[in-house]
Amino acid sequence: MKVPFFRHDLRPDQADQVARVLSSPFLTSGSIGREVESKLCEYFGVKNAALINSWTNGAAAALLALDIGPGDEVIVPAQTFIATANVVELVGAKPVFIDVDAATLLMSLEGVRKAITPRTKAVIPVHLYGQMVDVQALKKTLSDRPDIAIIEDSAHCFEGDLDGVKPGRHSTCAIFSFYATKNITSGEGGALITDDDGFYERFLQTRMHGMSAAAIDRFSLGNYRHWDMTRLGMKANLPDLLACLLPEQIDSIDSRLPRREELAVAYEHIFADMPIRLPGRLQNAKHARHLFVIHVPRDVRDMAVDTLGRDGIGVTVNYRSLPTLTFYQRKYGYDANSFPVSEEWGAGTISLPFFPSLTRQEQQHVISVVKEKIVPMVKRGLLTGSRPD
Ligand SMILES: Cc1ncc(COP(=O)(O)O)c(C=O)c1O
Repeated sequence: MKVPFFRHDLRPDQADQVARVLSSPFLTSGSIGREVESKLCEYFGVKNAALINSWTNGAAAALLALDIGPGDEVIVPAQTFIATANVVELVGAKPVFIDVDAATLLMSLEGVRKAITPRTKAVIPVHLYGQMVDVQALKKTLSDRPDIAIIEDSAHCFEGDLDGVKPGRHSTCAIFSFYATKNITSGEGGALITDDDGFYERFLQTRMHGMSAAAIDRFSLGNYRHWDMTRLGMKANLPDLLACLLPEQIDSIDSRLPRREELAVAYEHIFADMPIRLPGRLQNAKHARHLFVIHVPRDVRDMAVDTLGRDGIGVTVNYRSLPTLTFYQRKYGYDANSFPVSEEWGAGTISLPFFPSLTRQEQQHVISVVKEKIVPMVKRGLLTGSRPD
C-alpha cells in the first residue's frame, strides 16, 4: 500500500472560483483579495490583514517595514524551517539563534531574555507544528524594550490558540503561510495580520515595491494616477487568482480541525507504548495539528526514513536544526553543541503522513510499519548502546 506524505483537500469544483476571476478584468490583487482580508480580520479579531504571495516574502516585507537591516539582530529559534532565519539574512540583519524547550520544542523565554542586546530589533517566535509560543508572556518579558518587535511565525498555526487567544493579539504582527501542504492552502501564499495601524500602512508599501499605491488604487477611477516610492519594498502581494481559493477554506477551518485531532490522537495513543518520543502537549492550548512528528535515536533515523519509504510511506524531516546547516555553520561557526536540544531533535525527527483525508487503512499501514520495523531498529540500537535521547 502507498501512503502519500500529504494529499490536499481542494476539489475540482473550486476551479469555478478561478473561472470567476478569469472572467473579471482584474487578475492580480483586487476585490477578492480585499474580501479575504476582511474575512481574516473577522476570524482573528484584528484591525488589519494583508494577503501575501508567501510567508517568506511577507516576512521580508515586514522586516523592511520595521526598518530592520544591517547591524540589527533578530532572535529566532534554532528549531524551525529555514525561511524563519533566511528572511533576517535577506534584509542584511543577523539571526540570533536560541535553543528550544526540551519538552515543547518551542522557543524558551529564558533563551530570549539571555539573547537580547542593544542591537535586538525583533523576536520571531515560531508556533512549531501548531502549538503556540506564549506571546503574551513574551511581550511581558520585553516590557522594558518596547522597541523590540514581535513577529509571530504562524505558518503552522492558523486555527490554534493559547488560553483562547489566537495569533496576532499580543504581537506586532502574525504571519501565516498558505503553502501547498499547509492547513489552508492556495498552492503558494500567506497572510499578515496586525493591530498596529502605522506598521500596517508601511507594510502595504513594502509588500508592493515600496510604492505609495497598489495597482487597484492606481486605476480606481479608471485613470492613471502617479505614485511615489519612499521606502524599499518587495513584490509580495497575492493575486486574486489564488486568493479566490481561500474563503471556503477559512470558513471551514474550525470544522476540519477535529479530524486532524482524531488522527493525531490515534497516532499518539499507539506510540505511547513504544520507545518513540513525541513533542509534549501544552495543556492550555488548542493545537492546530499541522504536522505529526516522531523522534527516534539519531543513528536509527535515516535508516527509518529509508524503510518507511521502501514500504510506500511518504515521510519528511521537519527540521534539522538550522545552525547545523552548512550556510549557518560556515557563516557563524556553530557546532553540534551550540543548540543541543534543537540539534538532538533535528537529528532524530521524522514527520509521518498526516492530513484530513488520511484513511483508517492508510494510517494503520503507517502504524504497522513503525511498530514492526522501526521499533525493532530502535530497540536494537538501545541494546547496542545508542542513547535513548
Ligand atoms: C515554520 C515555517 N515558517 C515559514 C515558512 C515559509 O512559508 P512559505 O513557504 O509560505 O514562504 C514555512 C513553510 O513551510 C514554515 O514551515
